[in-house]
Amino acid sequence: MNYSKKVLEYFTKPRNQGPLTDADAVATVGNPKCGDIMRIYIKVGKNKGGEEIIENIGFETLGCGAAIATSSMATEMAKGKTLEEALKITNQMVAEELGGLPAPKLHCSNLAATALQKAIKKYKNIK
Ligand code: FES
Repeated sequence: MNYSKKVLEYFTKPRNQGPLTDADAVATVGNPKCGDIMRIYIKVGKNKGGEEIIENIGFETLGCGAAIATSSMATEMAKGKTLEEALKITNQMVAEELGGLPAPKLHCSNLAATALQKAIKKYKNIK
C-alpha cells in the first residue's frame, strides 16, 4: 500500500499523542468498519479577542497507522483555532492535509474529525 510521506511522518512521529490530565472535554469514537477506537481530549482557553480556542489537545488511538496519522494531523490542525473554526474541520480535510490516503484506508480518517467535533460539542453542552 502506498502512503504519502506525510502519513508516514505523522505515524512515526505523532503530534499531541497522549491524554490531557486537565481536559475540559473528552470524546471517544469507534470505527464501525474495523473496531478501532480514538479518544480526543481538549483544553479550552481564550484568545486575545476573548473567543474560546482549543488551547491544548491530545489523542489516544487504538488503531492502524492511518488512524494514528489522521488523529495526529487533526489535533495539529485544531490547536489554536477557535471552537467554531475547529468544528469546521472535516475528515476529508484531514486526509487531504496528509496528501491523501490509499483507498482501502480512507475510512480510517473518519475517526479524527468526528472525535474532535464530538469533544467540542460535549464541551459546549457542559458549559
Ligand atoms: Fe481501523 Fe484504520 S483499519 S482505523
